Amino acid sequence: MPYLSPALNVMTTAARKAGRGLIRDFGEIENLQVSLKGPADFVSTADERTERILVQELSKARPGYSFLVEETGVIEGRDKTHRFIIDPLDGTTNFLHGIPHFAISIALEREGVLVSAVVYNPIIDELFTAERSHGAYLNNKRLRVAARKSLNESLIATGIPFRGRGGHEQFREELAPIMASTAGVRRFGSAALDLAWVAAGRFDAFWERGLAPWDVAAGILLVREAGGVVSDLAGGERALESGDILVANDTLHPHLLKLLRTSPRG
Ligand code: IPD
Ligand code: CA
Ligand code: CA
Repeated sequence: MPYLSPALNVMTTAARKAGRGLIRDFGEIENLQVSLKGPADFVSTADERTERILVQELSKARPGYSFLVEETGVIEGRDKTHRFIIDPLDGTTNFLHGIPHFAISIALEREGVLVSAVVYNPIIDELFTAERSHGAYLNNKRLRVAARKSLNESLIATGIPFRGRGGHEQFREELAPIMASTAGVRRFGSAALDLAWVAAGRFDAFWERGLAPWDVAAGILLVREAGGVVSDLAGGERALESGDILVANDTLHPHLLKLLRTSPRG
């Protein structure tokens, strides 16, 4: 059974509640796909509603805690030592297109240290949880990053920059050596789930640039607690702050870092 600290318990309850709303909204998407207006407005409403439910539930259970949430930004609480970092809907583009691969991501920081994490895919009811020093879990199963030692056999997840995002050329340069050296590269469209899936050993590694703290905070703790290595793309400790991230097991991590850094702009 997963270790459930009182805070993690509160976070999973909030994620499940908000998840029920997202499932209902996702059901509507199919109808909206064919409408002229399209589902974009509807999705941003669903996104905001989910955020509201999460902030409400969490602040009821933990009054005074601060928040960093994607839509609202910073909510200063009386308690400056605790902060929830939340993405109410990670994988918006998937959601918008009726693709059932998205998640709610909630992390809790205590004095600047990530201590609890939840990434929840409500559609297939996969609840990833982690508590600092107590391991990472998928539902009731303890997680371990994949043990694969060879890049040849490794499956690597990434995020491809899109319209309005910088770094297109740099991505092409980084992708070239990775695709030549590994068993495959995947772009599934939710950084929070990419990280959770590395923790679960489904992907061997994940890298992406330009992410926000709410995309990665929970996933970082999941990967660490599953025994993986988390770094920024300079090999340092600033993945959360810089938004540039590489995660893998301790054998693959240095090899991948080298490949990424030897790309012309790495
Ligand atoms: C996005 C997803 C995607 C990643 C983007 C993020 P959103 O978050 O995590 O996988 O490539 O960089 O912005 O917009 O769906 O919450
Ligand atoms: Ca996101
Ligand atoms: Ca989002």
